[in-house]
Amino acid sequence: MERCERPVGVFDSGVGGISVLREMVSLMPNENFIYYGDSKNAPYGTKSVKEVQDLAMADAEILLGMGAKAIVIACNTATAVCAEVLRKKYPDIPVVGVEPALKPAVLHKENARVLVMATNITLREHKFRALLEKYSKRGEIYLLPCPGLMDWVEHGIFCGEEVEKFVDELVSPYRGKIDSVVLGCTHYPFLAGAIQKAVGREVRLFDGGKGTARELLRRLECMKLTNNAQNIGKVEFMNSNNCEAEIELSKRLLDLKKIVDKPV
Ligand code: DGL
Repeated sequence: MERCERPVGVFDSGVGGISVLREMVSLMPNENFIYYGDSKNAPYGTKSVKEVQDLAMADAEILLGMGAKAIVIACNTATAVCAEVLRKKYPDIPVVGVEPALKPAVLHKENARVLVMATNITLREHKFRALLEKYSKRGEIYLLPCPGLMDWVEHGIFCGEEVEKFVDELVSPYRGKIDSVVLGCTHYPFLAGAIQKAVGREVRLFDGGKGTARELLRRLECMKLTNNAQNIGKVEFMNSNNCEAEIELSKRLLDLKKIVDKPV
């Protein structure tokens, strides 16, 4: 098989990265993708940096072993601690990560008041700290680690009383004090409906999915790796939990169009 026909390998600590995958499929429908969800080891966001690095390296190696021509780290947490390590180890492979969409959220209006929801690791690590440093003078930025929030998506629960109550308790201290929310974990776009309800309709939600898809396209074009086939590509799912229910949930999430109000 020609290198450009090979699939793009995408991974996350679970099914959350499918919020990034759907943007890539929509921008590059003729590419082939393999998605690996490490649900067995989820969550990553509350583990040590070393544990996440080891898990993420193993995820990438599974995908490279299957012939992936590029790697997308569809996880803010894993990007924060292992994008550079992966790039150094595989200099010939495009490695694209996702980071919290702080820039568009801060710049979308003057003196924006922004709430960033993400994992402990993402908010603590150097990558996000550098971003924060760059934009902190442009608005008021509040950081909210959200342990436990991704579990709802892993269990296939996106709406309903229980999850709405959980989200409401997390964000209620910020209600009326913010103009935008950054969904800084790839699981959260699937909870956009509950988050929007808790913060109010006037608040804008931002996530990094579309930006990551555009960056992948740019990197593939630079390295002459785009798949020029005319037909629609294949999307294959794998999960470390190795059970059919996980694959069914993954397919459902990729097809999910109307379950949540899609963030920007
Ligand atoms: N989906 C992951 C992210 O974007 C993290 C969820 C987790 O494993 O804690 O950060």
